[in-house]
Amino acid sequence: MCGVIGYVGKGASPEFFFLGLKRLEYRGYDSTGIAMVFDGKIHVQRAEGKLINLHEKLQHLPSRANIGIGHTRWATHGRPTEDNAHPHVSGHIALLHNGIIENYREIKNFLQEKKYVFLSDTDTEVAAHLLHYEFSLEQKNTSHNNILAMKNAILNVVKTIKGTFAFGIISSLIPDVLFTAKYASPIIIGLGENENYIASGMTALIDHTKKMIVLDDYELAILKQDSYEIFDFQGNKIEKNILSVDWSAQMLEKNGFSHFMLKEIFEQPEAVAQSLNSRIDPIDYHVFLEELGIKNTNVLLFEKIQIIACGTSFYAGLLAKFYLEKFCCLTVEVELASEYRYRYSTSNNKTLVIAVSQSGETIDTLQAIKVAKENNAQTIALVNVRGSSIGRICDDESIMHAGPEVGVASTKAFSAQVVSLLLLALGFAEKRKTISKETLSCNIDNLLKVSSYIEKTLKESDKINQISQKLVAEKSVLFIGRGPQWPIAMEGALKLKELSYIHAEGFAAGELKHGPIALIDENLYVICIAPKDAYYEKVYSNIHEIKSRGGKIIAIGFEGDKDLESISEHFIGISPCEEIILPFLTSAVLHLLAYWTALNKGCDVDQPRNLAKSVTVE
Ligand code: AGP
Repeated sequence: MCGVIGYVGKGASPEFFFLGLKRLEYRGYDSTGIAMVFDGKIHVQRAEGKLINLHEKLQHLPSRANIGIGHTRWATHGRPTEDNAHPHVSGHIALLHNGIIENYREIKNFLQEKKYVFLSDTDTEVAAHLLHYEFSLEQKNTSHNNILAMKNAILNVVKTIKGTFAFGIISSLIPDVLFTAKYASPIIIGLGENENYIASGMTALIDHTKKMIVLDDYELAILKQDSYEIFDFQGNKIEKNILSVDWSAQMLEKNGFSHFMLKEIFEQPEAVAQSLNSRIDPIDYHVFLEELGIKNTNVLLFEKIQIIACGTSFYAGLLAKFYLEKFCCLTVEVELASEYRYRYSTSNNKTLVIAVSQSGETIDTLQAIKVAKENNAQTIALVNVRGSSIGRICDDESIMHAGPEVGVASTKAFSAQVVSLLLLALGFAEKRKTISKETLSCNIDNLLKVSSYIEKTLKESDKINQISQKLVAEKSVLFIGRGPQWPIAMEGALKLKELSYIHAEGFAAGELKHGPIALIDENLYVICIAPKDAYYEKVYSNIHEIKSRGGKIIAIGFEGDKDLESISEHFIGISPCEEIILPFLTSAVLHLLAYWTALNKGCDVDQPRNLAKSVTVE
């Protein structure tokens, strides 16, 4: 949720931290700050609201320093004010934090008895003062070896606090060393030339280095200009793999699009192609599970599949269920991670649990997969970020290859998730011999057509923009679909509400008569997903039920479906195609509908209010 950036090296300006935080601002935040050590002193500037409010204060910071930290805060404890913004200072120490300290009250009481004075309502300030207190004790124990004193002090702090954390720490007593430690919240270390970095996401460092280390839970790092050491929380030194990140800074720019979200919607054909690339043999019709990252999973062992995820990723899982069950002939349960993790678990060693997460950092999904592992399930992480927390604890990590997704609303990652899950379904079925060669080849051929079909669908963007203007003033909108289009209806509703703040609800069309039809009147728009698939006749009847009660129809159907077009207020045509291709087209239409509605309403489409790209706090 929060953005973290840190630097130690030959010298960095306040702009360095500012631009690093800009790279992370898509994660959602409501205050921000930078601290630098210069001339034996801590210099801090913080601001409420967006980064632009901090920019005008950069002139009050040293123009260049060898060490510093920056933070964008998504408020948990304490309102989003300047006083509550990070970094927080305690004497010679400045500290930033991503996470939640659950036992901060009792620690605060202890520190107040030690005469510490608190200037904020945050849990993070407690960590800053506690670290200062522990450091003062350790200075005596280490005969003033300040680096060792700070290392020991951090190890004492992380043993004392309960909750989640990613800390960035600097001290005016140790002006050439940057410290970090984490549990559950992400920390990436970047290795540069005579400079090293920390960040909460690779996108903040991609302009400076492609050599990165992903810190794992219960690890502490001590970075100098030209060296680094990593320790576990018992103080033992450990070695870590150095990743070479294959993203470019260019991929992170908007490339001429007005918003990251629009760029990423139009990148869906490429994202689908990348997800397919090198994972299928289009001649002999095979799926290469190893290329999908499946190396340790015993594909013949599991008797049930559980997919756990949140939000849009959950809807990708719900859609994939139709195909996993059909191709693999087994039960597939799709679970909200935030529910799965607290419920009695039926997972066991005959269960395959697939965690679907674009960021790979969603705390509910991360904690849910830990429950699955405690129950001896086999686990696969389907993620977009290599080396993410979820990927690191699963038996196998499958990268969806959507490329960096910056917009808070997930679009191309959704398409990449669906492709990857369909490939897993076909690959499992091929290995378990539950699918004929003909069915395998037919579905591989259809998946190879998806990118071009999406490209054609995206050409409807201007028409969808026109239609979206009918929704701008609406208070509520319904979405209906059947079969694989039911999860798409819910995904479309999620996108509309999270981007335009219009209430929206998606549900199975067959459920209309079980209650929701009471909502229908002449003031209500209903988005009806009605391609000529196996469910068409039923959905067509549902549309008549809506119309006969005055409801206003916006239909998504096959081009040339004059019957459907004639009973709709507005009609969006998609190319007739095989069922497995359809969800990619209908979701692309609904992503565009949500984008244009939000934009026409004047909403912030890349950073919707209250939302974050990665929900790393509970
Ligand atoms: C998607 O548009 C939403 N921003 C949100 O529902 C998201 O899908 C959810 O938070 C899960 O994120 P993840 O895929 O990174 O785990």
